[in-house]
Amino acid sequence: MRISTIILAAGKGTRMRSDKPKVLHAIANKPLLRHVYDMSAQLQNNAITIIYGHGGDVLKSSHVDLAATWTEQREQLGTGHAVQQAIPTIEDTDTVLILYADVPLLKLVTVERLLSLANAKTLALLTVNLADPAGYGRIVRNEQSQVEKIVEEKDASAQEKTIHEVNTGIMAVPGAYLKKWLQALKNNNAQGEFYLTDIIEMAVADNVSVVTAQPEHEDEVLGVNNRAQLNYLERSYQAQQAAVLMEKGVTLMDASRFDLRGEIVALGQDVIIDVNVILEGKISIGNNVHIGAGCCVKNAVIGDNVEILPNCVIDDAEIGAGSRVGPFARLRPGTILAEQVHVGNFVEIKKSTVAQGSKVNHLSYIGDTTMGSNVNVGAGTITCNYDGVNKYQTIIEDGVFIGSNTQLIAPVTIAKNATLGAGSTITKDAPESQLTLSRAKQVSIAGWQRPVKKESK
Ligand code: UD1
Ligand code: CA
Repeated sequence: MRISTIILAAGKGTRMRSDKPKVLHAIANKPLLRHVYDMSAQLQNNAITIIYGHGGDVLKSSHVDLAATWTEQREQLGTGHAVQQAIPTIEDTDTVLILYADVPLLKLVTVERLLSLANAKTLALLTVNLADPAGYGRIVRNEQSQVEKIVEEKDASAQEKTIHEVNTGIMAVPGAYLKKWLQALKNNNAQGEFYLTDIIEMAVADNVSVVTAQPEHEDEVLGVNNRAQLNYLERSYQAQQAAVLMEKGVTLMDASRFDLRGEIVALGQDVIIDVNVILEGKISIGNNVHIGAGCCVKNAVIGDNVEILPNCVIDDAEIGAGSRVGPFARLRPGTILAEQVHVGNFVEIKKSTVAQGSKVNHLSYIGDTTMGSNVNVGAGTITCNYDGVNKYQTIIEDGVFIGSNTQLIAPVTIAKNATLGAGSTITKDAPESQLTLSRAKQVSIAGWQRPVKKESK
């Protein structure tokens, strides 16, 4: 059985008050449309069609990698009209799965359950019981509690409005029948739209069974129409991710102040994450890692026993086992720290490798540098790697000791076990095991007197 998934993404999203199409707004940094696509792409033997309307170019250009057919709905004449646009992609023997790009948290298990109920003579509908059903289409059942039809809120009688079971819009429909019913839709209703929901009555008339399934959690079927709903679903999604991590053995100091905007690709044991940590992109975390409060970590590999102290920003970097970073450190793309490295406060490292046991503890900038092992970099050391046009490399070999407030004017090499005197501006290579310094001689002026303030008249 082939599945033909139709994702409705044509809505304008006026209530978002935004320049961009609604389905480009993101949850956990991933566009709504991509959430729905990624979920449905996990189904086997599935052909996906995306119905778009507003902002087609920007939508397509930000989703060029999707394996889907893009079909335009020029005018938004209703959900039935939207699905009609996909008729050419539907085979009679398909089971057609209808999804909504602005309903981002729907789970694969729920969809699989729905699909398992559908067949050539059965339509499966996802419904949910809401305490407040206002605004939704109501599920009308007969005395045998079989579904008879869906009534939209605006067309519903006072009696029908008391029904709490509502239409999520998500359904699995036999292809041949769907095509027949879509062609028969009329727009003689309160909103003058072609309602997809009218196919339920047609199914009943054609003796096609209408069965229902429910999601595990209500949030799976909630849509995004405004920023408040976007935020609600962001928090719901983050709470789910936090719960999964805790189940895997991570200690979160506050699950409500944790955000994962990406994926943890490897996770060790006894990881502790303090409050207000944001993990982004692909993150690998070893055993006994401690991430301090307020850290933003993106695309990073963090080794065993690493301690990241509060308020660090880490982007595209590797931190070797037993290293300690922060507080207030910034590791920029291309930073690779080996084991037992210490990077302290107000230190920025970019596109550099730091070998085992080296320490850069205070107020330094290390860029385009290859640093050996057991190097000690004094406070306020700066690699001057840029002349305004080109970038140059600095090489600091094993065992070097760099005194505080030293500038290394690249390209420059500091050979093994060299010592650089504090306050030096190093423009030439420094030889192995010697003390190199460039420092004006200190003088004291005898008899010098401080100026005194003139008396005002
Ligand atoms: C629809 C259902 C209602 C259900 C509710 C669940 C119909 C007629 N009603 O109502 O029973 O309870 O969803 O949220 O189906 N869209 C298009 N093209 C269009 C119209 C809509 O792509 O021409 C898309 C929208 O972008 C949106 C979705 O379809 O993602 C639902 O459309 P919307 O107008 O919000 O339907 P509701 O009135 O909420
Ligand atoms: Ca809606």
